[in-house]
Amino acid sequence: MSTPRVGIIGCGGIAYAHRDGYRANGIEPIAFMDTNKAAAEALAKDVKNAKVFDTAQALIESGMVNVVSVCSPPAFHEEATVLSLRNGIHTLCEKPLAHTIESGKNIAAAAASSSALCMTAFRHRFLASMVKIRSLLDEDRIGSVVFFNNIFCGHAPGMKDKWFSKKALAGGGSMLDTSSHSADLFRFLVGEVAEQKAVTNRRMENADVEDSAVLIVKADNGAIGSMTSSWMAGTGEAYVDIMGEKGRIFYDYIKGTEVRVELLNGEPEVHNVEVTWGFKEEIEHFLGAIEGKYPLACTAHDGLRSLEIIMRCYS
Ligand SMILES: NC(=O)c1ccc[n+]([C@@H]2O[C@H](COP(=O)([O-])OP(=O)(O)OC[C@H]3O[C@@H](n4cnc5c(N)ncnc54)[C@H](O)[C@@H]3O)[C@@H](O)[C@H]2O)c1
Repeated sequence: MSTPRVGIIGCGGIAYAHRDGYRANGIEPIAFMDTNKAAAEALAKDVKNAKVFDTAQALIESGMVNVVSVCSPPAFHEEATVLSLRNGIHTLCEKPLAHTIESGKNIAAAAASSSALCMTAFRHRFLASMVKIRSLLDEDRIGSVVFFNNIFCGHAPGMKDKWFSKKALAGGGSMLDTSSHSADLFRFLVGEVAEQKAVTNRRMENADVEDSAVLIVKADNGAIGSMTSSWMAGTGEAYVDIMGEKGRIFYDYIKGTEVRVELLNGEPEVHNVEVTWGFKEEIEHFLGAIEGKYPLACTAHDGLRSLEIIMRCYS
């Protein structure tokens, strides 16, 4: 592919992280679209020769871009992503892949029949901490995994006033929002999910989705995962804790710099890791895969699997 010419569809909060991720890889996004035109104009503001489009279709069919980031709410991912893929445009779609399994399947089908790549934006896979944990597991440092425990909790009561708490737009609540990352990390670090169930609660008023949940999964290799999500839980917590037959690997996102290993027979270890948000690394991977340097590590299928695991718990 010639030099990436990038468009961003949906220009709210996360679009800034995408823009900065492309910039950190030496590429300035040039085309912007948001149903709230002021949001697209704000993101385009300091870009020379930027163009703001009124619709996703106009941006995609303009011929101006060959790479697109889809950063709209989940209910709108399918429309933009499928059209983009049909036009041969490499597409990075934010998580969760969609708001329903059917919509996610439509995206995965479009990805399978497109000449372009479709990546689900699971940035956690690309964090130095998770890459380190993956390599420690590959080295069999803690033996086969017995438990994967993960919490992503924060105090975000403002979610009740946003699309995040509207089922028709989001597809689900805290579990789909944050545990879609967790389910992907489980599949990345532990294995494919064979069974899933969840307990959820909604204490937020004006919301028709859960604000707190525990998702429990069992991998086809027998490992058990527990993933806790909340927008309401006090001061918050974020960690990945993996217990194997021979030891344990622990990473605390809030402390940040250390992956700790405790072994049944051996001294504790500390592995220092760089702390980033993962957007630069995720986009670096996406652009490298587009260049043909390696296969895409995180696909629409991965997005669909994470979506299926969680959506099946709601029914
Ligand atoms: N990877 C992460 O860590 C992470 C973090 C936050 C959000 N996200 C995901 O990013 C996506 C967007 O979240 P956000 O926090 O930026 O939300 P946001 O509300 O800040 O921004 C969404 C933007 O999309 C626009 N929009 C709405 N409908 C649209 C449409 N049909 N076409 C184009 N634009 C439309 C809105 O006007 C708004 O500007 C969601 O899928 C969310 O789950 C991912």
